[in-house]
Amino acid sequence: MNTGYFFPHRHILGIDHLSREDILYILDTAESFKEISARPIKKVPTLRGHTIINLFFEPSTRTRLSFEVAAKRMSADTFNISASTSSATKGETLIDTARNISAMHPDIIIIRHSFSGAPHMLARYVDAAVINAGDGAHEHPSQGLLDMMTVKEHKGRLHDLKVAIVGDILHSRVAHSAIQGFTRMGSSVQVYGPSTLIPKGLEQLGARVCTSLEEVVRDADIVMTLRIQKERQNDPLLPSFREYSRQFGVTKQLMGLAKPDALVMHPGPVNRGVELMPEVADSSQSVILNQVTNGVAVRMALLYLVMGNG
Ligand code: CP
Repeated sequence: MNTGYFFPHRHILGIDHLSREDILYILDTAESFKEISARPIKKVPTLRGHTIINLFFEPSTRTRLSFEVAAKRMSADTFNISASTSSATKGETLIDTARNISAMHPDIIIIRHSFSGAPHMLARYVDAAVINAGDGAHEHPSQGLLDMMTVKEHKGRLHDLKVAIVGDILHSRVAHSAIQGFTRMGSSVQVYGPSTLIPKGLEQLGARVCTSLEEVVRDADIVMTLRIQKERQNDPLLPSFREYSRQFGVTKQLMGLAKPDALVMHPGPVNRGVELMPEVADSSQSVILNQVTNGVAVRMALLYLVMGNG
């Protein structure tokens, strides 16, 4: 670990704001926390007395539970608010919700929201540290970090890798964080999906857009597949799931084009048989559950670092 380094961030709003050094420091910190989850007694007193609020305005299994597990393993007090149980259903604005939560003096607020930029706005209105747990189609920084941790664990490095991302790039905050993270660490990222689901300007983020499934997967070190985000599509931007699966689904045969030791990743939830065939999702190349395990360690690191411990 770099001992001369000082972690400079009060909030974690996106990979966009993190330097290469910040990313390595977060991953080193996460690695040091990972063994806590393997102990018989999975609890350390590091964040005792700290109040953490999970403010989730969109459904989540992995991210919300993982932040809560991370906080509890560090002895913090955690509280959960979801859209359906908050006064947002009665018309309260996000700013008013933020001001009211802030009046209770939490230390950290973790927010997931369908609007891109909601965590950034929250950070302007509260004294607490804010962590973005996914904002619209913009960013999902803790997912990007756990993806990088998983790759570093398996490949021993984050540079000079060929990362292929397949699927709905347009609506994917996971893809936006991954593209920025892997390119910042010195790897190349190439993407492929239905032309209606490939946003303009990806090259500016550092990604190359491929013209076929074979092209994107060929010689890849990492094959990351993404879910079709029906809930973010006002207009139908793709044919049926069956048609999608036929044209864009990652099969065992397709994986034959990637490097023999290529990793298969997916942020979840997986639509089995649509974007990823079960024999690939459950293969020895799949690190999908390792991603989930590393999610707890990365989130422990983020909670620790935004409390000024870096
Ligand atoms: N990867 C991810 O964000 O999953 P959840 O939606 O279940 O949190």
